[in-house]
Amino acid sequence: MKVAIVGATGLVGNVMLKVLEERNFPLDELLLVASERSVGKKIKFKGKDISVISIPTAIEAKPDIALFSAGGSTSLEWAPKFAEVGTTVIDNSSAWRMDSSKKLIVPEINANELTKSDKIIANPNCSTIQMVMALAPLHNKYKIKRIVVSTYQSVSGTGVKAVEQMENEILGKKGDMAYPYPIHKNAIPHCDIFEDNGYTKEEMKLVNETQKILSDRTIAVTATAVRIPTAGGHSEAINVEFENAFDITEVRQLLSNTDGITIQDNLETNSYPMPMYAHGKDDVFVGRIRRDGSQPNTLNMWVVSDNLRKGAATNTVQIAEFLIGNALV
Ligand SMILES: NC(=O)c1ccc[n+]([C@@H]2O[C@H](COP(=O)([O-])OP(=O)(O)OC[C@H]3O[C@@H](n4cnc5c(N)ncnc54)[C@H](OP(=O)(O)O)[C@@H]3O)[C@@H](O)[C@H]2O)c1
Repeated sequence: MKVAIVGATGLVGNVMLKVLEERNFPLDELLLVASERSVGKKIKFKGKDISVISIPTAIEAKPDIALFSAGGSTSLEWAPKFAEVGTTVIDNSSAWRMDSSKKLIVPEINANELTKSDKIIANPNCSTIQMVMALAPLHNKYKIKRIVVSTYQSVSGTGVKAVEQMENEILGKKGDMAYPYPIHKNAIPHCDIFEDNGYTKEEMKLVNETQKILSDRTIAVTATAVRIPTAGGHSEAINVEFENAFDITEVRQLLSNTDGITIQDNLETNSYPMPMYAHGKDDVFVGRIRRDGSQPNTLNMWVVSDNLRKGAATNTVQIAEFLIGNALV
């Protein structure tokens, strides 16, 4: 397998390298790709230095798979050019997610939709991935009617520049701002850009991507996305109303039987998910599971995951593993 990481110098690219190494991904050659600014930089993989190359050089090398995490405009311009030379692209940006000709994949939920002819595959947004991971098994059993979600998202979800902004603010240093306001000691109800309907793009991703992944356009979703000063790991307060009645013990059972989910929910020992402890892990952590007594068939839960792992790099690598394992590449 010849694999390229496009955006290898970024936050997600860096975690992709770690995940490929940890999972012993079957690699014959790894191409590390970034913007022209980074060409020639050395990055370590399995103890060896690899030089960063440009996108055109990587296309000439015709990799089997390209893992993209270099922003939407880079994906829009370059993913089709990789696809033309036969590369299968798995893209982390929002560029292709809602394109009806592209699949939006969380392997535990819908990898079986993939075929050999899918040359550009979209990885969902980080906040969507952890939410659908926790909801898919419940949707299959009780059918979701409506979701109300509030997110508490870490600065690493915005990229290197935002992490630097927070670190500078903690140290009292001046520097570039990734956000319109300070993030240290703050909460900013503004993730990604505002749309005409008054919601942010991040909030609308939670609506549209959830419906697409769960293949059900009737699911009503409303979201408020908030940036908070945590370094890694997004948290979500999810209120979900089902068509059918549920039993709390069965809900816990369904979640604990789902690959990639860990339940942390013991009030006696103060056990509940937190981003500090989800950091660096691949699972989606679910806790504070409780019935919403204010209306029938409604559940509250608190869902936390590392946005750079399952929310991005790990999910992408899992898609690549599925393609290889099923001879789709
Ligand atoms: N952070 C998250 O939690 C998260 C989660 C899911 C999806 N994503 C998506 O993943 C992508 C990367 O996010 P990130 O957080 O890793 O951002 P980042 O830390 O800012 O890294 C951006 C990467 O893209 C490269 N790049 C930028 N412009 C390029 C160009 N014109 N040609 C080639 N490479 C270019 C950069 O290379 P240089 O170093 O050379 O500039 C760098 O490697 C974004 O699309 C983001 O929406 C992020």
